[in-house]
Amino acid sequence: MSVLKIGLIGDIVGRAGRNMVVDNLSEIRKKYKLDFVIANAENASGGFGLNIKNANELLSAGIDLITGGNHSFDKMEITAVMGRDLESSVDSVCKNGLDSSVEFVESKVKSSTDSAKIAESSPKSQDSSPDSPTFQMFNLSQNLTKSSFIMPILRPLNFPPKTPGSGICCINLGGEKIAVINIMGHYGINMNLDNAFYKLQNAVSAVKKLGFDNIIIDFHGEASSEKRAAFCMLRGEISAFFGTHTHIGSDDLHIQNGSFYVSDLGLCGAFDGVIGMDYKAPLQKAMSGFGKSRYEVANSNNNILQMVILTLENAKCVEAFKLRILNNKELDIINAIRL
Ligand SMILES: [Fe+2]
Repeated sequence: MSVLKIGLIGDIVGRAGRNMVVDNLSEIRKKYKLDFVIANAENASGGFGLNIKNANELLSAGIDLITGGNHSFDKMEITAVMGRDLESSVDSVCKNGLDSSVEFVESKVKSSTDSAKIAESSPKSQDSSPDSPTFQMFNLSQNLTKSSFIMPILRPLNFPPKTPGSGICCINLGGEKIAVINIMGHYGINMNLDNAFYKLQNAVSAVKKLGFDNIIIDFHGEASSEKRAAFCMLRGEISAFFGTHTHIGSDDLHIQNGSFYVSDLGLCGAFDGVIGMDYKAPLQKAMSGFGKSRYEVANSNNNILQMVILTLENAKCVEAFKLRILNNKELDIINAIRL
């Protein structure tokens, strides 16, 4: 039987969030025997975006794959290490059939806690033209030794086609095939996006055709109603669906038809500010009607890490719980409801 233990971490905000990951993730990986950890880190650098140095810090601390959202490109330097066009490869493969020109993301490590997570792109990926669809080969056991490299960092799939990076990552983890899809909702997000629902349908069907049955979705969005609708569309076909972006953890985690759902994983960072940021600027904006104050990451002694841990058997979620760590001490566990 195929069994996978997957960790999911919500929006990591600033230094407080990064420190919580660095201080706790290695121990959590060991304690819960995690095979793979996914985290949303679009706010990890100063609360806005993700720079290369901080991405390296998080990947070295035990995160295997980073997802993004509306702040994915706030630090534009990250585009240099994001790879490109993995989803167009999936589309192409489904239309044209799998051939030798496609290379899948591959990991040589399973249950690793200390291996470097920098992913180098394959020579073929480096040499191909910008317009040719190409999968990146991720070798998670390699250290960063060259100036040209690709990190396992996704951005939402429904950005316009010429956007740097990719919204799908297909991983071969010691023979276990995992596909992670990062998508962004529409409500309250004023961006030029393709329809999240059609994109999700197509992506799920595409990766399934390629044999990636462990399908995990990060739906980055404001409205739980959108997340619920998308989950209802896909439950039974996917392994897990988690929300990010609000930074407010929800307690609606459940498993239905073998699929896990939670509306939002919740913040990893300073717990007593405003979604990880210092309260003064948002309060001034709310009370004055204008908002030119600079938002800054809260400096607090009350830092939280919120993480969901999944057990997948033959691509179905059979167990899930949420772990909360406050100030480096395990606070509580919330078990997923089984429906
Ligand atoms: Fe966001």
